[in-house]
Amino acid sequence: MNKKNNSNSKSVAVYPGTFDPITNGHLDIIKRALNIFDRVIVAIAQNPDKKQFFTLPERLEMIRDCFNPDEDRVEAAYAPGLLVDFVSQNHAKAIVRGLRAVSDFEHEFQLALMNRKIMRNIETVFFMTGLRWIYISSSIIKDVAHHGGDVTGMVPPHVVKMLKRRFAEQD
Ligand code: COA
Repeated sequence: MNKKNNSNSKSVAVYPGTFDPITNGHLDIIKRALNIFDRVIVAIAQNPDKKQFFTLPERLEMIRDCFNPDEDRVEAAYAPGLLVDFVSQNHAKAIVRGLRAVSDFEHEFQLALMNRKIMRNIETVFFMTGLRWIYISSSIIKDVAHHGGDVTGMVPPHVVKMLKRRFAEQD
């Protein structure tokens, strides 16, 4: 994935999350965001409530491996600190988030309003998660894989391998 110029003439969106690991549900959101924005930066941000399973370099690599190296409209990056600062530094117009169910709404509503309070000109754009992926989360994927279940078709093939390898190492 090439670094692109951050010119304001291109519409850039930041899709933040912990991506531990990236799932097909996340990929669906990224692909749909690319129909609207010129570039999407998939940003691994810090959520203090979550303990990471995969390291930051592993998570970045898993995101990058989802895309053809020639796909210069998607970039994976680490966004330390406040998300809105990262969004602003990258001249992005919007934060993209996926909504799966009503239960996501309250948390997302809080994040979006807080981000807008801190930086007025940054909008959050919500995509309804594709029906096929409504039941997926990174945690449930890890739980199923941990207990030997097959997560093929829910995460990209290289993520299936990473999960198998990591849980085999732990046994
Ligand atoms: N398909 C599949 N899963 C999806 C999904 C989709 N379309 N949309 C959401 N999810 C899942 C994720 O896999 C994740 O699952 P998990 O909880 O099992 O890990 C969960 O829904 C949502 O988590 P995630 O997308 O990782 O978001 P988050 O709530 O952990 O992220 C941050 C929150 C990182 C964006 C937020 O903490 C942040 O902005 N941090 C930076 C610091 C900051 O600015 N803080 C102030 C914020 S106001």
